[in-house]
Amino acid sequence: MELWQTISVLFIIFTRGVLNQGIADNRCYLENGASSESFFVSEDLPIGAPIGQIRVHGNPRPGGTIALYLRETDSPIAITSGTKNLTLRRRLDKEGIDGPSSVLINLICERLHTLDPVFVIPINIRVSDANDNAPVFVNAPYELNISEVTVVGTRVLQGVHAVDADQQGPFSSIRYTILPGRHSDYFEFENELEGTLVLKKPLDYETLKHFDVKIRAQDHGEPPKSTDTTLTVHVVDADDQNPKFLDDRYMAVVSDSALRDEALNIKPRELKAVDQDLGINAVVFYTFNGLGGDYSLFKINRENAKVFLRRHLIDTDLLHPATLVIRATQQDNPDRYALVTLTVSRMVTKGLRFLKRMFYINVAENQPVGTTVATFSNNRPGQALRYFVSEEGLLKVFAINPRGELSLKKHLDYEEKSEYYFKIFATDGITNDSAVVNVTVQDVNEWDPRFRHTHYEFFISDDSKQDIGQVEAADGDKNDILTFTLVGMNSSMFSIKPNGEIILNEVGNYYGIASFTILATDNGNPPRTASVPVTVHFPPMPDANGIAKEKTSGAYLILAGLGGILLVLAFVVVLLTAYICRTEEIQLGNNYQLFHQKNHQLHPVLRRETKLATLCLLIE
Ligand SMILES: *[C@@H]1O[C@H](CO)[C@@H](O)[C@H](O)[C@H]1NC(C)=O
Ligand SMILES: *[C@@H]1O[C@H](CO)[C@@H](O)[C@H](O)[C@H]1NC(C)=O
Ligand SMILES: *[C@@H]1O[C@H](CO)[C@@H](O)[C@H](O)[C@H]1NC(C)=O
Ligand SMILES: *[C@@H]1O[C@H](CO)[C@@H](O)[C@H](O)[C@H]1NC(C)=O
Ligand SMILES: *[C@@H]1O[C@H](CO)[C@@H](O)[C@H](O)[C@H]1NC(C)=O
Repeated sequence: MELWQTISVLFIIFTRGVLNQGIADNRCYLENGASSESFFVSEDLPIGAPIGQIRVHGNPRPGGTIALYLRETDSPIAITSGTKNLTLRRRLDKEGIDGPSSVLINLICERLHTLDPVFVIPINIRVSDANDNAPVFVNAPYELNISEVTVVGTRVLQGVHAVDADQQGPFSSIRYTILPGRHSDYFEFENELEGTLVLKKPLDYETLKHFDVKIRAQDHGEPPKSTDTTLTVHVVDADDQNPKFLDDRYMAVVSDSALRDEALNIKPRELKAVDQDLGINAVVFYTFNGLGGDYSLFKINRENAKVFLRRHLIDTDLLHPATLVIRATQQDNPDRYALVTLTVSRMVTKGLRFLKRMFYINVAENQPVGTTVATFSNNRPGQALRYFVSEEGLLKVFAINPRGELSLKKHLDYEEKSEYYFKIFATDGITNDSAVVNVTVQDVNEWDPRFRHTHYEFFISDDSKQDIGQVEAADGDKNDILTFTLVGMNSSMFSIKPNGEIILNEVGNYYGIASFTILATDNGNPPRTASVPVTVHFPPMPDANGIAKEKTSGAYLILAGLGGILLVLAFVVVLLTAYICRTEEIQLGNNYQLFHQKNHQLHPVLRRETKLATLCLLIE
């Protein structure tokens, strides 16, 4: 019985122990029967904030059944003593930068009033993403060098870029904007999701050289996070401007005593042009924008724009102010230049002055009386002055009116007086001046050439002679030189020397008559010409003349005379010849008379006549 009692007590104790143990065990068990706890904690959870409660059966409150504490002493998570509440002690960070991105801790659950070993409950804390990161610009702040001639719409900067450390999604997707500001209207983002800047408004280096634009990168969190940075813009000058002279116009006055190579004193200040592209400030060089005329009196230094006189001023220089256009050209770009005028005037001289020391006047001798042949220009144009000439006698030939006009009072004649050389005075009553006048009378071709005779005839008997004879001609104009030319039917047979001698070109047997015309031309302007007909008489054709026949048949008759029978016949012939000679002599005598009256050129005729007479005498 005692054994049974003992056994039964032991059983009861055992069973109770087992039962007790079964009941006490559940204190450190999790309510859902799991063996570990998991919590999601947003990374932006503030420190000290509750994370959650451990769902254990036991009661950790003072006087409770369990004690809860963490095995890790420096964990970012803490358990509030006497509670099941977990709180955040240090920052958690999904991105793992500012704190751990996950935490594994071991919660120890001790059952009070037992010797049972402690329970270890693993707790897994997972960090969930929050928009805790603002975007961050890469390589900021930005700097941009942009040419002022960049066309609106050009992508000027592609490098704007920001990153957001938050997890992919709205918290890390960035939109870019330009913050309102003084110069914010120059650029815009092509697309707000991309950092490409586009020029929106033309730039001008000359008005705005540098400026800043604020750029914002903002994520899509709720509320969003954003970062701002600066874009510093340097506008680069482009060669879009011409140079410019510092003044609108320049003036200079030269005195009569100004020296050659003396720089003009230019007002309001020395010529200077500068490039309006200040950032480029190209070097300019200076030239005259014209040639000849007034420009020929001056030269300009290419570098410093100083203007010099090329020579001393003479009376006729700068009667009216000279307007010089000066050009400043960019050395690096000849298409960029500026023009300005420089007016150079001469210091006014007080006295009356002729514009020339010497007046050369040419007058044709045929100018009608009253013609104005010259004007004595002076520095008082339009003012009536009194004029005097050095010789009284000149006033019979010329007249001068108060306007200084010289006119003819009588006809000039080159042949009589070809030059008038005198001095002229002018006075305005206070001052006076003089000048020298040289009037050259120009010859006019007033006269035709004239031949001494109206017709020339020459008689040729000697075939071997080339000179035919000479013609004479003269011209009424004093200095005219005559030139002869031959024209007409037989003119090619002859030529003529400048002194009028006519030459037969080729010696030969010519018969009959040759006729041509001689022209005499003078060297006046326009030339005048006279002509004269010429006839040259060669011996007549042999058949037509008895003398010629007799000459040849004479020998034949002598041969025939060998025959005695023919002697009588020969005598008759001699008688006949003698008869012919007589008649011919009479005719020649008449001709001689005729030509003697008409013409002096009788030598050939005389020669021929002498020959015939000799022959006739022989025969007789
Ligand atoms: C523990 O957390 C619960 C619920 O979150 C709360 O009601 C209680 O007041 C907390 N206890 C302490 C001591 O903070
Ligand atoms: C802009 O130009 C300046 C001067 O020429 C130079 O020093 C600077 O590096 C340039 N900046 C950029 C972003 O090109
Ligand atoms: C011209 O002027 C000078 C003084 O300038 C004077 O001596 C001279 O007599 C004047 N001559 C005439 C012709 O008026
Ligand atoms: C006048 O002018 C003519 C033509 O220019 C020149 O031949 C002549 O020598 C001049 N007379 C004098 C006296 O200078
Ligand atoms: C002159 O020319 C005419 C015509 O050509 C010619 O008949 C005649 O023979 C010429 N006279 C002489 C002498 O040659």
